[in-house]
Amino acid sequence: MSPDPTNEANPQNDGPRKKVTTKSLIRMKQRGEPIAALTAYDCIMAELLDQAGVDVILVGDSVSTVMQGLDTTVTVTMDHMLYHAALVRRGASRALVVGDLPFMSYQVNSDDALRNAGRMVKEAGVEAVKLEGGRVICDTVRRIVDVGIPVMGHLGLTPQSIHKFGTYQVRARSTEEADEVRSDALALEKAGAFAIVIEKVPSELAKGVTESVSIPVIGIGAGPGCDGQILVSHDMLGICTRFNPRFVRRYADLANDMRSSFGHYVRDVKAHEFPTQNESY
Ligand code: KIV
Repeated sequence: MSPDPTNEANPQNDGPRKKVTTKSLIRMKQRGEPIAALTAYDCIMAELLDQAGVDVILVGDSVSTVMQGLDTTVTVTMDHMLYHAALVRRGASRALVVGDLPFMSYQVNSDDALRNAGRMVKEAGVEAVKLEGGRVICDTVRRIVDVGIPVMGHLGLTPQSIHKFGTYQVRARSTEEADEVRSDALALEKAGAFAIVIEKVPSELAKGVTESVSIPVIGIGAGPGCDGQILVSHDMLGICTRFNPRFVRRYADLANDMRSSFGHYVRDVKAHEFPTQNESY
């Protein structure tokens, strides 16, 4: 079902099914209403998240680790992202759908970035794009926003730079790096970003950044002082258990449930107990 673009969330009366927009997220920050965001890579997951009231669905380049069995996000391509974003878009009607721009689809020059952001909107139907980085990408952010495509920034642990960092450890523990994150957040706001994801930095820093900008800051492993939270759905559902940082709260243990259901099915088939007459024609 397509969203009704006129059904924008209203600051006084945000019913549970009002379409989430970049503007309504900013109003949620202003009223102190936490933003709940999760990732999806396919239509059925997007439908479930949407029905549960998730505000923002991110089609993350974490698709690489979650769905493609890879160790980093750096090999994800525009074609992968366009495919998954289009599936997610089909399943979401209320939530704002944001698509990650993959590594090297926006860093070479801002013409490339603009073209690829445009493809995410036109071909996949996302409502905003996410780019990793701060001051270094601000000219690009401004150009994308200027043509009418909302941009979400991403600071702190930026997984596309894993080969530079060398580790997925907490970022910005040093004063110098914390200062950089603060400056990057202000620069992204000035460049027109409508929100910022901040990943795996000390809580105090994330809280300070959140208070210093007027746009929503959505944390992952960044403590409770942000305007909202995001997790990778497959991590919080306990489907992906390879990755186990302490910031992931497990709301289910689906890997065990799924394995045990598959095992049951195998046993039933082998024992000639599936299908029964009632399950046949
Ligand atoms: O790709 C992703 O899933 C992300 C979130 C972890 C924020 O960028």
